[in-house]
Amino acid sequence: MAKLLLATGNQAKLKELRSLLRDLPYELVTLPEVGISIKVDESGNSLEENARLKATIFADKSQLLTLADDSGLEVDALGGQPGVLSARYAGKNASDSERIDYLLSRLKDVPWEKRSALFRCVIAIATPDGQVEFSSGACRGIITLKPRGEQGFGYDPVFYLPRLGKTMAELPLEVKNQLSHRGKAARKAYRVLERLKEREDI
Ligand code: IMP
Repeated sequence: MAKLLLATGNQAKLKELRSLLRDLPYELVTLPEVGISIKVDESGNSLEENARLKATIFADKSQLLTLADDSGLEVDALGGQPGVLSARYAGKNASDSERIDYLLSRLKDVPWEKRSALFRCVIAIATPDGQVEFSSGACRGIITLKPRGEQGFGYDPVFYLPRLGKTMAELPLEVKNQLSHRGKAARKAYRVLERLKEREDI
């Protein structure tokens, strides 16, 4: 079976992507499984640029069809921040809980009705010869006053979904995948990958 490299070192993302893409006619492989340990500097100015960078560099290194995701949280009251800087928002080596604390401190005077936010995800699929296709997805929510829930990762404990009355960290993986930015982007990527499967040169 043809291989698809899931080019992320984030174990939580990997788990979500594995579940979302499990029925595809590809063997899903990870960076350590193909012996790649380099890190790609996410130096782009947009999620698209970073997703492209990661996908093309790892596709070139592995000579495999490669999928990379770049995602971020855009908070309306912060003019769309942290956006592409979501992973480094509280400094390069900060933990998820330090990033959440920093975000909540920036929003401490912002009332509930102005705490709207958007999770965005861009998936890039690159062929070993450098062609790239993008899929994207977004999910709207509200930043809570304090964290709630143990599942998921990143900003999930403070991302509240009014429709469900729960934060993303209170949802089982399958439910998060049904409505999340990554779930939406991955379902579009699924169709791209099915189409690419028809090509004989990949
Ligand atoms: P990157 O895509 O690896 O650059 O990281 C994006 C950052 O955005 C992560 O470190 C998380 O803090 C945050 N993020 C992206 N997707 C999610 C998600 O599904 N839940 C919670 N936080 C997320």
